[in-house]
Amino acid sequence: MVYERVKTGETSLTRQKTKFVCANCGYESAQWLGRCPLCEQFNTMVEELVAPLESRPKKRSMRAVVDESQPIPSTELKGTVVPRVVSGSAEWDRVLGGGMVPGSTIIVAGEPGVGKSTLLTQVAAQMAQKGHKALYVSGEESPHQLAMRLERLSLIHSDLLVLGERNVLAISNCLQSVYPQIAVIDSIQSVFHPLLTSSPGSVGQVRESAAHLIRIAKESRMGLLFIGHVTKEGYLAGPKVLEHMVDAVLYLEGEATAPVRLLRATKNRFGTTGEVGLFQMTERGLEDLTHPDQWLLSASQEPKIGSAVALIVEGRRPLVAEVQALVASNTWSGCRRVATGVDIGRLLMLIAVLEKHLGCSLSNKDVYVNVVGGLRIRETAIDLPIALAILSSRSDRPLPAGTAFFGEVGLSGEVRPVSQGALRVREGRRLGFRHCIGPTDGTSTVDWTTVADVRQAAEMFHLIGANRTTRRRD
Ligand code: TYD
Ligand code: MG
Repeated sequence: MVYERVKTGETSLTRQKTKFVCANCGYESAQWLGRCPLCEQFNTMVEELVAPLESRPKKRSMRAVVDESQPIPSTELKGTVVPRVVSGSAEWDRVLGGGMVPGSTIIVAGEPGVGKSTLLTQVAAQMAQKGHKALYVSGEESPHQLAMRLERLSLIHSDLLVLGERNVLAISNCLQSVYPQIAVIDSIQSVFHPLLTSSPGSVGQVRESAAHLIRIAKESRMGLLFIGHVTKEGYLAGPKVLEHMVDAVLYLEGEATAPVRLLRATKNRFGTTGEVGLFQMTERGLEDLTHPDQWLLSASQEPKIGSAVALIVEGRRPLVAEVQALVASNTWSGCRRVATGVDIGRLLMLIAVLEKHLGCSLSNKDVYVNVVGGLRIRETAIDLPIALAILSSRSDRPLPAGTAFFGEVGLSGEVRPVSQGALRVREGRRLGFRHCIGPTDGTSTVDWTTVADVRQAAEMFHLIGANRTTRRRD
């Protein structure tokens, strides 16, 4: 309807204008400028639609709106229990806090190839199977490509509709005529508003297109799921600006080459951000991961040189992961430090601590660190296991079987407390790690072996004494 008017109505097109607004300071200009004249930042001008005069509220109606608005005493307010729409996936529902709230808008972000389209095709199909009409708008793949995936994953259903479209006005026409209960937009970077001159995926296009679709979805209480790509550095390319416009922001993480995927909420207006969902990519699509330890630990739990088991907590979920380190001599070129699944900055800091406080020379060594299963771990409780895995590889001595570690390492080598020690140790023991080692926690009711610094932990397993022998051998 809207699209028709814009396409045929010459006057609407000529009246509707765009402006460029500095994303940093709000300076407005009629043309795009490479550098904002006010804050002097480069590349901050973002194209926006100027609201046409007829869509601005009249003075009289504004008066009525202002008069109607009255505060309510908090004692008269009652918290309403929001009904949830559950999908077939317990992990998806868990991350959203028990299912999707009707009419909510969610963005699912992740690197290309991580499985966003697969996940949301499954969610849309599961909703359709439960009797909710679902629309999947694909701006990246053709409806035929999508149909092939649906067929292969046995997700074909008459209530799941597919639309191959990128024009946001055409999409909103379709939403208003089909009136689905949930709509997936794959992806928000591929959608464009025809009245903006900037290219699809630019900040202005992403913001205007999303705002347009969110307005329609909110008016008709339709659940809206956006897919957004992130860059390798972890930024939502463009739609970072969308985060405040949606109800929930979910990140799908994992290495495209490994099967484990982690879905994490960084914002959730209808639940906590503490829950994480675990999936595995199979030939039947993304399946809930019921036994994460099978993927996050090596098949054999025999003592291995350069391997340490870490007790970590993702959100509120305890997980046991294996960190592997390889320290190799390198006398012919600049030393390499490679971190897969952990922060490289953190690894460099730990290497400096080991060199300075434990006298462990790594200056002529390559150091590689990897987390088994392709999981990315951000919390600092992984520090102690990384440090011990490096020392184990450096000294050619394995850590004993059945032992697991956790704890943050400070700049002077001290092992600092981390939250939820008892939860970590309980999960470790449940999976057969009888000997758990971590920082002291005076309040915990669960016992574990405590260490004050990395040196103490290293001496406990004779990793430093052996280090001297290795150095002589070098
Ligand atoms: P996709 O959902 O297209 O990723 P994104 O939308 O995030 O770019 O899926 C990417 C990968 O998942 C692709 O390399 C193939 C793999 N895959 C499977 O292993 N099994 C499956 O059933 C499907 C649908 C995809
Ligand atoms: Mg995709």
